[in-house]
Amino acid sequence: MKIIASYNIKGGVGKTSTAVNLAFIAAKNGYKTLIWDLDPQGASSYYFRVKPKVKGGSKELIAGNRELDDLIKATDFENLDLLPADFSFRNLDLVLDARKKPAQRLKKLLVPLTQEYDFIILDCPPNISLLSESVFEASDILLSPIIPTTLSLRTLEQLKKYIKDSNLKHIRLVPFFSMADKRKKMHRDIMSSLLETHPEILQTAIPYASDIERMGWERMPLGGYTKRGRSHDAYQSLWQEIIDIISN
Ligand SMILES: Nc1ncnc2c1ncn2[C@@H]1O[C@H](COP(=O)(O)OP(=O)(O)OP(=O)(O)O)[C@@H](O)[C@H]1O
Ligand SMILES: [Mg+2]
Repeated sequence: MKIIASYNIKGGVGKTSTAVNLAFIAAKNGYKTLIWDLDPQGASSYYFRVKPKVKGGSKELIAGNRELDDLIKATDFENLDLLPADFSFRNLDLVLDARKKPAQRLKKLLVPLTQEYDFIILDCPPNISLLSESVFEASDILLSPIIPTTLSLRTLEQLKKYIKDSNLKHIRLVPFFSMADKRKKMHRDIMSSLLETHPEILQTAIPYASDIERMGWERMPLGGYTKRGRSHDAYQSLWQEIIDIISN
């Protein structure tokens, strides 16, 4: 079982779209997959048409008073389950802070699920917080969408430094370009120079595309309404690169 966090310090970079589409592809490829919506905005719950409600809210969840198993919902797709968000997740940091070892909490909660799933994908809220520390401890892969701009490069460097300084040796930071617009010279230039200086960045770039944006309208993963096309292929190849990393 592998835990993949879709994470970036920055907001609006494609974390949820990535989590939702990769969870769909994993499940379609026969892997038992769980997507956990950790963001109080509940966007991935919305895409899978699941009510963003968790009985007992963040307090009971973090206390371990509820079996995660009882909170998990099936989606419309085979092999794919979802642990919904709840509006109380806006307080996750405070609730974690009240625990003895907050950074270990998420990892501990997920232990009973390791037998049940091949992949657990965490859709994380932006920011760097106690919740993110708990996410870093629990995850094998920190998949980080970056929009090809200079500011995004800065956040990537911040994240790399944070992981190094915190001695998080078990986790692999896997950045990739998200919302890449090849018509923009700046995007093209930043992508080609960063791929040279940052070998950890994946070769696949997810294009800025209206069929991806349409997910909010369709309320399903891209693969639920499109079987081909540039965006579809990009997500497939992103998933393949991740599988290659995991199996090497
Ligand atoms: N490749 C893309 N092309 C065009 N639009 C995209 C693409 N990826 C995401 N979007 C759109 O951009 C917006 C932000 O995407 P998304 O919700 O995936 O980002 P996020 O990082 O999860 O945001 P937040 O930090 O708010 O959780 C959404 O409206 C989404 O539909
Ligand atoms: Mg999101």
